[in-house]
Amino acid sequence: MRALLRSVVVTVFMALVAGAAANLAWAQGEWKADPKCVTGAKNSVKGVGGAKKTVETNCVTCHGASGKGDGAAAAALPPPKPADWTSPKVQAESDPVLFCKISDGRGAMPPWKHLPEKDRWELVNYIRTLKK
Ligand code: HEC
Repeated sequence: MRALLRSVVVTVFMALVAGAAANLAWAQGEWKADPKCVTGAKNSVKGVGGAKKTVETNCVTCHGASGKGDGAAAAALPPPKPADWTSPKVQAESDPVLFCKISDGRGAMPPWKHLPEKDRWELVNYIRTLKK
């Protein structure tokens, strides 16, 4: 009985440790866009449309007015911090990857799938205008 109890305790403990490690990897490892989304995504939208407004409403609190990742809420967030859209790292991502990351979100970055697809592509095009 004792041995059984101990093995149950050990199993639960191991599950907790594994869960915490997986969580950490999810929150802080490199963020890869969902390959299924990326394969099916193609940018056929021209221009930025109303993206500036969409950004002001939905993104500046975290990503900042100039997209540098320095919005008012950024200081309070634990790492990974909101991405700097002007950075070479973000600019090196393909359009479909940015589109899928914006759509799906991760951790503190909310998913924006509820925005029309055209609006999400315009967000991608807008981010491109910030390239240094
Ligand atoms: C509540 C804060 C918050 C809001 C609001 C927010 N983001 Fe983010 N964003 C983040 C965080 C945090 C990350 C980094 C996530 C990570 O690396 O796991 C991020 C990452 C990104 C990235 C990833 C870049 C890359 O190459 O990995 C893009 C693109 C992005 N955000 C676009 C947007 C857009 C567009 C909006 C508005 C429609 C928006 N975000 C709103 C917090 C936010």
